[in-house]
Amino acid sequence: MKTRKIRDGIYSVGVQDWGRRLFDSLIPLPDGTSYNSYLIQGSEKTAIIDTVDPEFAETYLENLEGLKKLDYIITLHSEQDHSGSIPMLLERFPNAAIICSPKAKDLLVEHLLLDPDKIRTMEDNETISLGNKSLRFIYTPWVHWPETMVAYMKEERILFSCDFLGSHAASTELYDNGDPAILEAAKRYYGEIMMPFRSMIRGNLKKLQGLDFDLIAPSHGPIWNHPETILAAYEDWASDNVQNKVVIPFISMHGSTAKMVNYLCDELAQRGVKVELFDLAVTDIGKLAMALVDAATIVIGTPTVHVGPHPIVANAVMLANAIKPKARFAAVIGSYGWATQVVERILPMVSNLKVEVLGAVLCKGVAKEPTLKELRDLAELIATKHKDL
Ligand code: FEO
Repeated sequence: MKTRKIRDGIYSVGVQDWGRRLFDSLIPLPDGTSYNSYLIQGSEKTAIIDTVDPEFAETYLENLEGLKKLDYIITLHSEQDHSGSIPMLLERFPNAAIICSPKAKDLLVEHLLLDPDKIRTMEDNETISLGNKSLRFIYTPWVHWPETMVAYMKEERILFSCDFLGSHAASTELYDNGDPAILEAAKRYYGEIMMPFRSMIRGNLKKLQGLDFDLIAPSHGPIWNHPETILAAYEDWASDNVQNKVVIPFISMHGSTAKMVNYLCDELAQRGVKVELFDLAVTDIGKLAMALVDAATIVIGTPTVHVGPHPIVANAVMLANAIKPKARFAAVIGSYGWATQVVERILPMVSNLKVEVLGAVLCKGVAKEPTLKELRDLAELIATKHKDL
């Protein structure tokens, strides 16, 4: 995509990655993504904020054809999808200084083998002038690396936020224009990488409160031209509020665990509790991460394989433990063949979750009435706990 003008002297010069379907060899990207880069031409100095994934360096440099001078390469975050094309950009503009946070300097040297003497670090709230425009750097750590910061341009009321407040979505649209699909992509992105750092996110949102801006320009996804939408969503996602919702990730090998899952699902629904089921054999784990952003309860449904949980369930449980959803309650259900230790083996795997374990319903073979009653009792207990939220 060609470069797009945002304001006088400010251009979007990044690339759209329509075909990418996986990030970090883990996270599904059903809508692709973009690597946004912003060219800012001040009356005295020219700067670029973030670059693009090195796979797209050639296209990126074509986007910058005609650019005669570059004073600053600003990197708000060191991960390679934003910093990876810095070496190629430096080949074209060898005199450009790299601007980053102090913690980013070491990361850029280690990951990209950049010359430390080319790197100038910014203090929290330090400002650089481009002449008629300026950029103030504000540390926003742990979104989702320790070195991250945002850049605020008061003259044009723009906040450049990199990963923070971004969305994985390739689009021809420069702005979100209130599209709910972009907000959903942002929730997916939050759930996948920001959620483990909720308290830091809340602190970072507070730091933005005194700033006057009407555009948020992230380095993934469209620019938010209704910033209040994404800010309000982040406030909610990062808060302690949970919804009257149960998420059930499960696997079933011969249908017995699925029968228990479906029975519990119906019993919960009859008690006014929303349920989202995820058959882990086929599910998009990004959708699971999104559901976990605000669920009050997680029920893990697993058959027993060699007395432990099914390996695909174990994988999902490890993921849930890593992304630290704010769920308050958890339970385990499932069928086994001849013996089981799934509870003993799963609970140590969720040590990051601050949940009250409401119990386990396990059954040899197909669930019969004593087990079905246990599932009804579990549904009743969950519904009661949710009423007290
Ligand atoms: Fe988009 Fe953390 O990189």
